[in-house]
Amino acid sequence: MNMKGLRRSQRTSALGPKAGALLCRGIWLLAAALATVSCGQTLTSFHPERREWAFDHLTVHQTTGAVYIGAVNRVYKLSGNLTLLVSHDTGPEDDNKACYPPLIVQPCSEPLVSTNNVNKLLLIDYSQNRLLACGSLYQGVCKLLRLDDLFILVEPSHKKEHYMSSINQTGSMYGVIVPSRGEDATLFIGTAVDGKQDYFPTISSRKLPRDPESSAMLDYELHTDFVSSLIKIPSDTLALVSHFDIYYIYGFASGNFVYFLTVQPETENSMSPSGSSADLFYTSRIVRLCKDDRKFHSYVSLPVGCVRNGVEYRLLQAAYLAKPGRVLAAALNISAQDDVLFTVFSKGQKQYHRPPDDSALCVFSIRDINARIKERLQSCYQGEGNLELNWLLGKDVPCTKAVSDADADLTP
Ligand SMILES: *[C@@H]1O[C@H](CO)[C@@H](O)[C@H](O)[C@H]1NC(C)=O
Ligand SMILES: *[C@@H]1O[C@H](CO)[C@@H](O)[C@H](O)[C@H]1NC(C)=O
Ligand SMILES: *[C@@H]1O[C@H](CO)[C@@H](O)[C@H](O)[C@H]1NC(C)=O
Repeated sequence: MNMKGLRRSQRTSALGPKAGALLCRGIWLLAAALATVSCGQTLTSFHPERREWAFDHLTVHQTTGAVYIGAVNRVYKLSGNLTLLVSHDTGPEDDNKACYPPLIVQPCSEPLVSTNNVNKLLLIDYSQNRLLACGSLYQGVCKLLRLDDLFILVEPSHKKEHYMSSINQTGSMYGVIVPSRGEDATLFIGTAVDGKQDYFPTISSRKLPRDPESSAMLDYELHTDFVSSLIKIPSDTLALVSHFDIYYIYGFASGNFVYFLTVQPETENSMSPSGSSADLFYTSRIVRLCKDDRKFHSYVSLPVGCVRNGVEYRLLQAAYLAKPGRVLAAALNISAQDDVLFTVFSKGQKQYHRPPDDSALCVFSIRDINARIKERLQSCYQGEGNLELNWLLGKDVPCTKAVSDADADLTP
């Protein structure tokens, strides 16, 4: 089966290339644009304290309308009219990426320099009225802040599970909180690891107890000698493709699944020692896991991108899950209650870190994505194609015909 991914070229043209071009700078532009929203006659704006302390993430509370911004060295809370309500400092602090465990836990002999704390994750935990903010300092520790006043509820940092990744690049990490009625929520986190695949899993699911003081905070959902709620990038993959990493651009929960949208270097045809990251071809992928799969056996991923007038757009820049309006729902043959995913891709497959201006806005229905994944799994169980998990398995592993349902398992 030709797995060239999910294509929706018609939808691209239906929405118009202009809209795509407008959104091409992704989250960063979104934050800047929202900061100059026009309110009636007056134009209000909000700027970071220092020009270089850029905004990294922005989230608007569903009911209060409060605006939370994760910036370099700051977390801000603004009212809906962009009046600053609270500013919370997160940096800069003396640090060194080589300090593992971080110096807040154990003295470090590396030279310390004043280091920016880049916000890499900003999520509202609605059920507990708190904000999860993860940064790049101290091997990537997170804080839980009270939504009202950004008071620190907890900053877990004494166990290796508390270090998410020291990469200081925004657009590298994403998280999804899955609430559970009557029980503690689960936090799924995907992150680039910046060559430190032994320290940090690329994807994991963690406990998010209601009690911020709980000693289980951010523990892996399941952690035994044999099976855990995490996947690490094998060292062999980095030996073959030296700059291999997985960048997590977006994530969401829908139905019984959790999804992440990633960009990663292709390993399929280039499992040979490659030189600089400039030579790499990147593929955007959609990763899906079952919400309640603590062993990560349900991990499945498909390439995602779009084509317009024969031009391929495969470098994901930003994405957003929403409900379609009546017209779009009809055009996609879905109901207005179905989830749709709006995505912005840059042209081509190279230059992920400095994407070309040419971009496209593409829309996918989750129903369609699930149908494609089902099709893919079924053909794999029939013994067609291969698992397409080269980065994890180190080689092309052909699909084998499933003997019975009990043997049906995509990851070995
Ligand atoms: C902004 O909103 C706050 C309440 O959310 C209000 O107190 C304040 O007067 C507003 N400021 C402007 C400039 O409209
Ligand atoms: C990220 O780290 C690199 C190298 O350590 C540094 O040059 C760069 O300025 C840092 N980025 C930010 C936003 O501080
Ligand atoms: C629309 O979706 C329904 C099922 O939801 C399907 O039976 C029908 O064939 C679809 N129509 C088109 C034009 O794809």
